[in-house]
Amino acid sequence: MDRFHISGPTPLIGRVCASGAKNAALPALAASLLTDEPLTLCRVPRVRDLRTMRRLLDYLGVGSEERQAPGSEAPRAVRETALVLQRARPSSSTDAPYELVKTMRASVLVLGPLLARYGSARVSLPGGCAIGVRPIDQHLKGLAALGADVRLAGGYVEARASRLAGAHFRFDLPTVTGTENLLLAASLARGTTVLENCAREPEVADLARLLNVMGARISGAGGDTILVDGVDGLGGAAHRVIPDRIEGGTYLIGAAITGGDVLLEQASAADLAPLLDKLAEVGVEIEVSPAGIRARTGGGLRARDVATAPHPGFPTDLQAQYMALMTRAEGTSTIRETIFENRFQHAPELARMGARIHVDGGSARVDGPTELTGAAVMATDLRASACLVLAGVAAAGTTVVDRIYHLDRGYEGMELKLQGLGAHVARVAESQAI
Ligand code: EPU
Repeated sequence: MDRFHISGPTPLIGRVCASGAKNAALPALAASLLTDEPLTLCRVPRVRDLRTMRRLLDYLGVGSEERQAPGSEAPRAVRETALVLQRARPSSSTDAPYELVKTMRASVLVLGPLLARYGSARVSLPGGCAIGVRPIDQHLKGLAALGADVRLAGGYVEARASRLAGAHFRFDLPTVTGTENLLLAASLARGTTVLENCAREPEVADLARLLNVMGARISGAGGDTILVDGVDGLGGAAHRVIPDRIEGGTYLIGAAITGGDVLLEQASAADLAPLLDKLAEVGVEIEVSPAGIRARTGGGLRARDVATAPHPGFPTDLQAQYMALMTRAEGTSTIRETIFENRFQHAPELARMGARIHVDGGSARVDGPTELTGAAVMATDLRASACLVLAGVAAAGTTVVDRIYHLDRGYEGMELKLQGLGAHVARVAESQAI
């Protein structure tokens, strides 16, 4: 198990390029199950969750080959990747086993495409998760609305349908992967599907763009209501995954928390608007130009409340990093987490670094400003890890962030990118740890 050793404080200064979005790349890879032709995906981040999805697809008969995009001058670990996926074996399994699914919840994204393409799928229920219960009832209700016979047996979802049929379905609440699973399935259904109360996240819209290039007929993605005219078959495509707004947002918050000056390149300011608006309220100078998004702080930061919400609200995936920032801001802020029940596990770890945080159910009150000091802390999930790393760069002294494998699920070359911005961060393998 690797750790990060961080010596601070250091202002993050310089340019950093956003990688491709993990949460857009995952459903894009799952779309490869819908065709026999090659799917070429550019800007797929080299992170552990994508490796897990490739392993699962390989098990299901889709091979994938990584190629470096030509002309990239970035260091090897952050160089852009093109991934070519294609069905390698004619007879495939439609069974996603627990051993693969338990390590990554997004594995459930193979359910819709397997069912639509092969008429049956057996996918393990994902099991527990550190940040909340995270049921998949909406995925299952949606597929049942398209005519699938869906049962739960022995910890598995078993779904069957000779051919899915277009239907009208309203999600009880917006779900990102639920909406994606239904888009993947409805693309090959007979007739028209109308999906209401859909997740409006940019990653959903990116999947719809890819499916449309493959020959699907989807309109309205990115909005509340999505229309899918089912087609009989889908072909190959080439697609460039959108930049990772959460990863990019993490570095912008990094500039703010360390009193630095960061230019985030290849990011979408529109997708990051909820964060950029909040940072501006806090007193961070934000400049959007063709070169990228620049965030810098000269003076003090003001405490400002935030509540997470589905897009276009403030993303839950940036809540932990924002909490780290609020420890450095003048005044008291309240942070409300409305998406997941248990997403404040970074709070006691920040407290070990000197933060004053009081958690009460779904709300956390942060009293600032605090001079953070280095400490040994433990990462509990992906975004909590990022929060602790940022706090470590801002803190005086040495911070050791344990269980960095959480971070490796979703941040491409984070220590290299931070080093490029001037941070003193080293990855230390457990055997090397003091
Ligand atoms: N929910 C249900 N029933 C369902 C599906 C969801 O009750 O069938 C609830 C969830 O428990 C949660 C809320 O609906 O309270 C929203 O969950 P959603 O389904 O949107 O989350 P997800 O699709 O499982 C994706 C991202 C998460 C991100 C959330 C929210 C991927 C692969 N994952 O998860 O990303 O936090 O949307 O934006 O897209 C991360 O990258 O660190 C991460 C956790």
